[in-house]
Amino acid sequence: MPPLPALMRRRWLLGAALVVLSAPRADAQSATDTTTRPAVLILATGGTIAGVQDAPGTLGGYRAGTLTAEQIVASVPELSRHARVEAEQFANVASTMITPAQWLALAKRINRAFDERPDLAGIVVTHGTDRLEETAFFLYLAVTHDKPVIVVGAQRPATGISPDGPINLLAAVRTAAAPQSVGKGVTVVMDDRIISAREVRKLYQRTGGFSGGDMGLLGVVSSNGPTYFFAPVRRFGARSEFDVRRVDSLPRVELAFSYPGGTGPRFDTMPAGLVVATTGFAPSEAAAFRRLREQGVQVVTAFPSGDNVSALPRAAAPDTTPANATAAARPDSARAAERALPRQVVSQHLTPQKARILLMLALTRTRDPNELQRIFAEY
Ligand code: SIN
Repeated sequence: MPPLPALMRRRWLLGAALVVLSAPRADAQSATDTTTRPAVLILATGGTIAGVQDAPGTLGGYRAGTLTAEQIVASVPELSRHARVEAEQFANVASTMITPAQWLALAKRINRAFDERPDLAGIVVTHGTDRLEETAFFLYLAVTHDKPVIVVGAQRPATGISPDGPINLLAAVRTAAAPQSVGKGVTVVMDDRIISAREVRKLYQRTGGFSGGDMGLLGVVSSNGPTYFFAPVRRFGARSEFDVRRVDSLPRVELAFSYPGGTGPRFDTMPAGLVVATTGFAPSEAAAFRRLREQGVQVVTAFPSGDNVSALPRAAAPDTTPANATAAARPDSARAAERALPRQVVSQHLTPQKARILLMLALTRTRDPNELQRIFAEY
């Protein structure tokens, strides 16, 4: 500090003394904390939010998933003003390494924490942004509690210039601690925006980085904490039928694209299910996907953009969905053969990668295509 004139120095010392005297004493604070501040569990999985550069403070590269859960929490002392934070290391990897087995383990860990800890207000999952939307959607379907689960990441590593991880983590903890977050489903909080895990999409590598697309934000985190404007109405959380407590592994579901000149995917061993990103099949593709259905593969179509909002076919209705539109042009015998096959299921307003996650969970419950269509209409 530069030298101060005598009068200013006295005022500064007096001001500093007042700040010290008015600050709550650590022991007095901890005596009230356990009753006044909500408990929030942070489950750290790695990602850029835990990333460290070889040359800190530069624009240089970094290793995702390096800092520990404790180090991330310790870097944001402000967290303790809003919650009693507990940190647990679930994994420490770049999110491209996250597997469906880990989705399952994470959902089980969260369900168990809420089952065993009625005092927990909410849970925050720190995660790399590359696969954040997929983990968040899996948890949205497989966490069968209505307490808040917030998934959060960062676009810049913890040692970078202007890291966004600390402020994102603070917003996530405040959102997890807030009673108004109950019943909103798993959400993603980035750049003070609260987005439903059902709709969230990674867009770009800039601050915020995620969007809810046409479906927008559920709310924002302001200086007063989270404020909600909307809530999701489809099934999730306590109303979800996907209780994974006794599920040991997820069925194999593949993803494929349909495109001009396409002839459909080939598999050495058949998956249980297949999601096809398509706006409609050419005859060669329709034949390929029909063959897969004949071999027992459950086929679900999703718009490549995820934005299909056309009405879903009723459970027993003939299959006249866009992807099957060529069936209408086929002769009667071909149409009869099509009707004899298990129906092709249509997803509504889900990206193909999220339709895949819903199909994986749905196939733990049923292989009846009518039931699968019901599930895609309800979630
Ligand atoms: C990752 O997804 O683990 C790395 C990228 C990021 O977190 O933004």
